[in-house]
Amino acid sequence: MMILKKSAVAILLFCSVSAYAQNDKQIIVQTRHVSLVLTIGKSGRVYQSYFGKRLLNTADYAQLNSTKHEAYITGGMEDQFEPAIKVTHADGNPSLELKYINTISSHSGDDATETVINLKDPKYPVEVALHYQAFDKEDVIKAWTEIKHDEKTPLLLTNYASAMLHFDAKKYWLTHYHGDWAWEMKMQEDELTTGNKIIDSKLGTRADMYEAPLFMLALNKQADETNGEVVAGSLAWTGNFQFQFEMDEHNSLRVISGINPVASEYHLDAGKTFTTPAFIFTYSNQGKGQASRNLHKWAREYGITDGTKPRMTLLNNWENTGFKFDENELVALFDDATKLGVDLFLLDDGWFANKYPRDNDKAGLGDWEENKAKLPHKVEYLVKQAETKGIKFGIWLEPEMVNPKSELYEKHPDWILKLPNRDENYQRNQLVLDLTNPKVQDYVYSIVDNMMTNNPGIAYIKWDCNRTMSNTYSPYLKDKQSQVYVDYTLGLYHVLDKVRAKYPHLLMMLCSGGGGRTEYGALKYFTEFWPSDNTDPLERVFIQWGYSNFFPSITISAHVTQWSKTASIKYRTDVAMMGRLGYDINVKKMSDAEVQFSKQAIKNYNRLNNVIWYGDLYRLISPYDEDRAVLMYVNDTKSKAVLFNYFLNVRYKAQFNTVKLQGLDPQKNYKVEETNMMDGIKSNFNDSGKVYSGDYLMTVGLNLSAGKILPQTSNVIEITQQ
Ligand code: DGJ
Repeated sequence: MMILKKSAVAILLFCSVSAYAQNDKQIIVQTRHVSLVLTIGKSGRVYQSYFGKRLLNTADYAQLNSTKHEAYITGGMEDQFEPAIKVTHADGNPSLELKYINTISSHSGDDATETVINLKDPKYPVEVALHYQAFDKEDVIKAWTEIKHDEKTPLLLTNYASAMLHFDAKKYWLTHYHGDWAWEMKMQEDELTTGNKIIDSKLGTRADMYEAPLFMLALNKQADETNGEVVAGSLAWTGNFQFQFEMDEHNSLRVISGINPVASEYHLDAGKTFTTPAFIFTYSNQGKGQASRNLHKWAREYGITDGTKPRMTLLNNWENTGFKFDENELVALFDDATKLGVDLFLLDDGWFANKYPRDNDKAGLGDWEENKAKLPHKVEYLVKQAETKGIKFGIWLEPEMVNPKSELYEKHPDWILKLPNRDENYQRNQLVLDLTNPKVQDYVYSIVDNMMTNNPGIAYIKWDCNRTMSNTYSPYLKDKQSQVYVDYTLGLYHVLDKVRAKYPHLLMMLCSGGGGRTEYGALKYFTEFWPSDNTDPLERVFIQWGYSNFFPSITISAHVTQWSKTASIKYRTDVAMMGRLGYDINVKKMSDAEVQFSKQAIKNYNRLNNVIWYGDLYRLISPYDEDRAVLMYVNDTKSKAVLFNYFLNVRYKAQFNTVKLQGLDPQKNYKVEETNMMDGIKSNFNDSGKVYSGDYLMTVGLNLSAGKILPQTSNVIEITQQ
């Protein structure tokens, strides 16, 4: 995470200077299977001389002597391509040179090693520290940069990348993930050519709406799930990001990852440290599947709140009631939740504001007291009622926003991001609060804190954010408007830090009008995210597939709804079961058979969720390749697996081969049993109950397409060691 602090680079416990230098000229950052080698050149500059598969013999690194690519290229000097850092000094000099001072290494636990390479300008009092935290078991490296100076006036930072990586491959294929509301995470893969390809966002709050801060880069040849060299990268930043992929005339590629330099000039005061967000990346020479599994493991251990702890199934009311409900109707919905057998009821938008009641999206945001007509006995009553009925209660908040029709707007017009002398610009009839302002930060924190203090029984919060930043101006920042996007995100983190300090284990869903915020900067504070408002299972297969490249299933909230007019309850449920299962449905409109099926499905999910949440994911057949998607999760002892098979809108006479499984133990025998079946829905799997060796299942495979295939049909198959 990015922080500004007044101090020198912290020297951690158990640290050693140059502990990881192979020789005087080399710094090796390494995990179990990956290494990044940096070389200190004769000039004192630091170069990246290797990144890829870890070599078997450490001594071999001594052979590496390339000083072709400076590790963190500075702007304004002789390099004429994109720099990692560009500054202007107090005297107007627009250049920086960075020379090596020392390396400090430290360990936290037996898994993580942090290497800090300290660099300094020989002529100006500017220091830059490159941080690389290597997670051994997960093969993940987290890189970030600290910048500080001692000049007389603030140093102007125009580019300040989190990390720079260099590649010398024959060819490069970039996969990025783009979309829009209800259309998130479309995977697109293209070969890179000479020049500069930029993947970025300038949207501020809801930064990931069009492009997610995630990429996969295949080296030399196109990678698939099991073959090829892949780098998977992600910027942990809840704001404007930029990845630059610049390929030069010699086919060298530099990848610069960080806060978007567009509209982000930063005035850094002397003595303060600017810490960039982290760039989190992994390398795999066994295709994209391994890269995803590395990131999933890292995320559960280090990247999200309580990644190794359980989640709750829930019933949400948004798709069912919208803004129209009262406390009696809600309490009746609690009965629906208990009827289904879920753990929690989640009350969505529409429960608050009195002067301008929140009866639609035009009013009330900012006024977070219970609406007297809808909730005369307040949230407290709902929490108690839920408790009586044996379920937990959760609530929706959108703390960063305000409707012009609200008391907050009337009381604090100076707390809002909006341009002077211009008309206000609305998205969903709302404006963004100025989180650069400490008073606004306190107010936003108090929304959560008051809710939790008044209702300590609340077990879940859905934190929404339904607009991007446009026509942006901060009354608080005055002449430092170029910092508004960065300081906004820092302000948000300040609030979330306080929330987590007081409520460390509260379940919290990160939502942004669907998947407008899906990255590890915010996820650190959350237990799960809302991937998309689109819950049509056909679309969800693609959307969840895209997210699965970077996020473990425990973070991917997936609800069974009535969005689709064609899919059976079984298909909708099977698709939601590959993530954190929930419901957002009018239970009263479900048939008895549908309710019975759902009750059993929730029991099945509770039996299998350990494997789904914490298991290794193997994507077997992509919906981008065939009219079906097949994936499986395998637990770490390889004693249990769960396979999901989804036929899409199958074309006439489509041919489907048997599916070879992955991740099992070839020496073990496994029983394969179909579960989540529903009366009246035919299965195309005829081998339920049979026992096979892991070797057979992975070499020959399973026939999941016996007989005529109907569109939008699915299977959940339990695979158990005998
Ligand atoms: C957008 C979210 O994505 C929905 O799930 C819902 O919470 C609405 N906001 C409520 O306004």
